[in-house]
Amino acid sequence: MPFQHVKDILSGKLNGNRRVKLRGWVYLKRDLGDLQFILLRDGTGVMQTVARKGVTNPEAFEKARKAAQESSLIIEGSLKKEKRAPGGFEVLIEKIEIVGSSDNYPLAKKSHGVEFLMDNRHLWLRSPKQRCILRVREGVVDAAREFFRREDFVEVHPPMLTSSMVEGGATLFQVKYFDRKAYLTQSSQLYLEALIFSLEKVWCLAPSFRAEKSRTRRHLTEYWHLEAEEAWYGNEENIKLQEKLVSFICNKVGENYQEELETFNIDPKRLCTVKPPFKRMRYEEAVSKLQRKGFNVKYGDDFGSREERALTIDIKKPLFVTNYPIEIKAFYMKEDPDNPGTVLCNDLLLPEGYGEVIGGSERETGYEKLVKRIREIGESVENYKWYLDLRKYGSIPHSGFGLGIERLIMWMLKLQHIREAIPFPRTPDRIYP
Ligand code: 4AD
Ligand code: MG
Repeated sequence: MPFQHVKDILSGKLNGNRRVKLRGWVYLKRDLGDLQFILLRDGTGVMQTVARKGVTNPEAFEKARKAAQESSLIIEGSLKKEKRAPGGFEVLIEKIEIVGSSDNYPLAKKSHGVEFLMDNRHLWLRSPKQRCILRVREGVVDAAREFFRREDFVEVHPPMLTSSMVEGGATLFQVKYFDRKAYLTQSSQLYLEALIFSLEKVWCLAPSFRAEKSRTRRHLTEYWHLEAEEAWYGNEENIKLQEKLVSFICNKVGENYQEELETFNIDPKRLCTVKPPFKRMRYEEAVSKLQRKGFNVKYGDDFGSREERALTIDIKKPLFVTNYPIEIKAFYMKEDPDNPGTVLCNDLLLPEGYGEVIGGSERETGYEKLVKRIREIGESVENYKWYLDLRKYGSIPHSGFGLGIERLIMWMLKLQHIREAIPFPRTPDRIYP
C-alpha cells in the first residue's frame, strides 16, 4: 500500500472512510488511558490518529501508548471524518511501527527560553510554526524567480570568495586563501555589473556576509541577498522595478500561503493589497521628520534601526528614501547631476517600524570619478582594475539593487527577530548548530 501525505488527506483529495498509510513524527501525544491520541506530523501537515483499547489490536495499542514525542512512526489505519480533530479527519490506528524512538526529547516542554531554542535550532525547526516560516520562505524565492523570468532577467551565479570589498571595510570577513587574503562577499553587485554587459538584465540569490558587530533584531552575519542589475536603467526605472518586485512577491505569498499566514494571525489581505506606487521621501525630508520627532540627527548622519523605525512606525505602505548625501553612501553610486552632493539612490523601508529591506542605486559610470572615490575610501585602485574596465569598454548607464530576503520575511510574518527567518542563523554570538 502506498504512503499518503497529510496535506492530500486534509485538502479532501482523498475521501473519508478508507484505509490510509502515513509516516511521520509524533508531534503531540495525549494519553487518556483507554484512548491514545497521537498527532502525527509529516512534511505537509499534522493528522490526528487514535488507538482505542478494545478496538485497536492490543499490540498496536501498546506501541501507540509507548510512542514518545518526536519518535518516527509508520501508521496504517482507517480514515474517518471527525469534526473535533484538527483538519476534520482522524485515523483509527490498526497497525503501527516505531521506526526511530525518541527518549527525553529536549523540546518536550511547552515553553523554552530563546537561547535554549537556538541551541536546539536543529530540533526547533520541526515545530509547525517553524515549518510555516520555511514554506513562506520558499514561496518568497519562488515568486521572485517567477517575477524575474517574466521580466526577462537571467539568473546568474556569482562567487562568494572575493578579492575586494563592496560595502565598506568595517563589515568584511577575511579568510585565508592559500597564501593570500580573500574575503567573503558582502554583495554580488560588482560581478552582476560585469554580467550585464553579456546579458543586459541579471539577478541572483546568494549568501552575503557582513561582519556586523551590531546585535540588533535585524542583522545576521550571513544572509540571503537577492540582487538585480539592469543595463540602460536609470534610477527611476530601478525604483519602479523594486516596487513591482516587492508587490509581486507579497501578492503571491498572500494568495498561496493563507494557511501559513493564519498560523501567524496575518490577514492575507495585508500582503495582497501591497501595490505600486510606494511612498517616497528625500533624505533631507527624512532628517526633518526625525528632528520633529525629537531625534538628535543632522544632515549628513546615517540612519540606524532606531531612525528607520521612527520613520516607518506609523505608515502602512513601504517607503523609498532617496538622495542620500554622497559621503554616507557606497563609492559606486552616481552623483545626482540635479542635486550635487547627493546620490541617485534609494533605501526601501518596510512599514510598521521594520525599516530597510532594499538598497539600490544608479551606478557611477565616469572612470575618473570612480578612481577618485576608490582612493578616497582608502582602497587600492589595482584591486578594482577589472571593475574599472567595465567603464573603459562600452560603458553604459545602469542601475541595480539588493534585497535582504530575511528582512522581507520578517515583515511579512511580523517576526520579532530576524533569526527565525533563516533555518540556521549566523550572528556574532552564534555559529552553532
Ligand atoms: O544596503 P546594502 O548594504 O546594499 C548592497 O549590498 C548593494 N551592493 C546591493 C546592490 O545594489 N546590489 O544591502 C542590501 C540589503 C539591505 O537593504 C538589507 O535588506 C540586507 O541587504 N542586509 C542585511 N540583512 C540581514 N543582515 C545584515 N547584516 C544585512 N545587511 C544588509
Ligand atoms: Mg543599505
